[in-house]
Amino acid sequence: MKRLRLELKKDTDRSYDVLVGRDILDSLHSEIQRLGNFSSYGLVTDEVVRPLVAEPLQNQLRSNSIDTTLIALPPGESAKTIGTVLDLCQQLLAQGFDRKSLLLAVGGGVVGDITGFAAAIYMRGIPYIQVPTTLLAQVDSSLGGKTGVDLPSGKNLLGAFHQPRLVLSDLDVLTSLSSDARRDGFAEVIKAALIEDPELFSILEREGADLLDPGNPLLETIIAKACEVKCRVVNRDEHESGLRRILNFGHTLGHALEAAANYNISHGQAVAIGMGLAVRLSRQWVGLSEDNADRALDLIQKLGLPTEIPENIDPEALLVPLEKDKKIQAGICHFVLLAEIGRAVIHPIPVGDLQKSLQKITRH
Ligand SMILES: NC(=O)c1ccc[n+]([C@@H]2O[C@H](COP(=O)([O-])OP(=O)(O)OC[C@H]3O[C@@H](n4cnc5c(N)ncnc54)[C@H](O)[C@@H]3O)[C@@H](O)[C@H]2O)c1
Ligand SMILES: [Zn+2]
Repeated sequence: MKRLRLELKKDTDRSYDVLVGRDILDSLHSEIQRLGNFSSYGLVTDEVVRPLVAEPLQNQLRSNSIDTTLIALPPGESAKTIGTVLDLCQQLLAQGFDRKSLLLAVGGGVVGDITGFAAAIYMRGIPYIQVPTTLLAQVDSSLGGKTGVDLPSGKNLLGAFHQPRLVLSDLDVLTSLSSDARRDGFAEVIKAALIEDPELFSILEREGADLLDPGNPLLETIIAKACEVKCRVVNRDEHESGLRRILNFGHTLGHALEAAANYNISHGQAVAIGMGLAVRLSRQWVGLSEDNADRALDLIQKLGLPTEIPENIDPEALLVPLEKDKKIQAGICHFVLLAEIGRAVIHPIPVGDLQKSLQKITRH
């Protein structure tokens, strides 16, 4: 098992451990005891994760004298609403949860975001821990304290920063994920390597598609390294005033593509294509070498992810969501680009040039 630490420089008391390993759910009870005494425990999950991970975990905690109230939400992004948060808070109140209660978010990014947001606002804030069960949640959403829910007009529009007290990522729970979900999660691992970690990039490049096997012994190292990247970036910029924006590599065009495709494309695929476009823009705008650009594109493809805009989507259509999301201001769009593999920079591109670049890049 690897024990990392997400250090928060503004306030070291809020720093927390991030545990990554196999067969480590068994140590959750002792980790909770290390954090202190709590008046009650709420185990929040979704209906899919409930039988797979949440109920066995509840039994294991019970046999170690930690009794939890299990609350299962409906699965999927459509549950990420303020209504779900209100229901959850009402259930906590009915069960007598107070400011000394601890919530456990056991699930993917949706459960983590909802539970974290409820923990941020219930009685003006209660502690919570993250037990992420998807690859995306292990390397990305469980870390850094961004919590929130969607509004009908857009994703993550209601939210709060509220850091967890612990993140425990057990790799064994990933075996029940579909191969598509595993591959999609790798988009965020590749992102971490490209923006910050050339060594992680080399490992990914060497192992390639073998990493999609959930039993691969290198996965622990790889997931821990991707987590370290996120920990380092959050440490430098907790509230996303500047540097944390590099975590959006591939996401500006990725989100635009998700919107242009009416969300009929997975987040991982959209981000992979967004990274593919950003790599080509990096060649043009910040001098990424041809060799590095080719290696980056090859890696994305090796892991079974796309790098090209689907033929049925007009590249021009990507500009509409960029305008709507206020990503284009005064005719300029700021992109996270790569100066080298492992070194991200933020670079302004005038929208007229972006339009030309997109046309050129995507001419099939
Ligand atoms: N807070 C942040 O910083 C941050 C960062 C990135 C993404 N996010 C959010 O994360 C969400 C996406 O997270 P996600 O991809 O984990 O989606 P998700 O939570 O919807 O999980 C995807 C599906 O997998 C199921 N599942 C979860 N664990 C499983 C397991 N071990 N075995 C089998 N099935 C399992 C879930 O029930 C769900 O149906 C989005 O809402 C996104 O906005 C948040
Ligand atoms: Zn993402």
